[in-house]
Amino acid sequence: MFTKHLQHLKRSDLLRTIADRGSPQGRTVWINETPMLNFASNDYLGLASNTELIEEAKRAMDKYGIGAGASRLLSGGCILHLELERRVAAFKDTPAALVFNSGYSANLSAIPSLATKDGAIFSDELNHASIIDGCRLSGAEKFVYQHKNLTHLSELLQAADNPIKLVVTESVFSMDGDITDIRGIYELCKTHNALLYIDDAHATGVIGNGKGSLAHFNIRPDDTIVQMGTFSKALGSVGGFIAASKTIIDYLINCARGFIYSTALPVPAVAASLAAINYVEDHPEIIRRLCYNISNCKRLLLSKGVKVSDEETAIIPIYVDTVKDALRVSEHMSASGILAPAIRPPTVKQPRIRISISALHTEEDIELLTVYLFEALRCQ
Ligand SMILES: Cc1ncc(COP(=O)(O)O)c(C=O)c1O
Repeated sequence: MFTKHLQHLKRSDLLRTIADRGSPQGRTVWINETPMLNFASNDYLGLASNTELIEEAKRAMDKYGIGAGASRLLSGGCILHLELERRVAAFKDTPAALVFNSGYSANLSAIPSLATKDGAIFSDELNHASIIDGCRLSGAEKFVYQHKNLTHLSELLQAADNPIKLVVTESVFSMDGDITDIRGIYELCKTHNALLYIDDAHATGVIGNGKGSLAHFNIRPDDTIVQMGTFSKALGSVGGFIAASKTIIDYLINCARGFIYSTALPVPAVAASLAAINYVEDHPEIIRRLCYNISNCKRLLLSKGVKVSDEETAIIPIYVDTVKDALRVSEHMSASGILAPAIRPPTVKQPRIRISISALHTEEDIELLTVYLFEALRCQ
């Protein structure tokens, strides 16, 4: 059965395979001993190989070792875990925060904890798999609203009379790079007495001066908002977090299974995450550089007739008609020394090339990307 399934995927051009790097993450990476210009990573600020972060991780490793040895509740945490949580809370302007082992684990653990059996979850149809899985694990009723459609969300909220309502959305959508109207959703939540759960995975370090979607929309965090984020993308490290009220964080410490029943994050990763937040605050110029690269890339693509949105996020989807088209374009790019991955079903309905921009890219890198992309799209 497993072999049959794999054969079916291969025949449908949907088989996934792994091509690991032989170099650090960065502007260029080595794959199969070949240097590739990298437009495939979520390391938007280039912090994954930043020397200051590496030094902090090394110092922490020398002092505290590698493995945490247990879950946080059973001696696995060291003072850096707590320091990171205080730092996240200050960064996200909330009374408290809790660190998870990944963004995936944060969504998988927090969503079912917050939306219990008699509750209702309202989820955008394009939400990330980790949100979908978190919803699946919850005993709550589930309502999926059309992508960014606040009228639809409002109707669903109006019709539900559950005592707990949780609206879950990404702020920056991971495969389309578009930003949802967090202010509008927040106002709907207020009207319908719902809790707002925002996945800021691709917003943190990018929009709102790096602080994410609430800062972007100029909304002050309050007790009705739960901000989820991850250290694994613009912050260049690993781990997820929830920033929220003290009550919600205390509740998650007691109920979030991915927190309770999993060994704490390795300390070098915790130290790197701490250093990353400090770095982002101390170096606003890297976010400015990222923004410049994003707008420059979009401008060049538009000038070549390639359709792109004007969203100020680092994810640029180039939609194509078929899976074969996506693979062909990606392979053409690869042959030109550029990593520009094809994204196919079931990750997305419409196949696409997902370009991600980094602050490390030079103007020449972006020029090259656009030239080869134009060529690859024309040759389809
Ligand atoms: C929107 C979104 N949420 C959560 C996650 C999971 O985060 P992590 O990679 O830290 O597990 C991702 C990762 O792809 C994501 O894109």
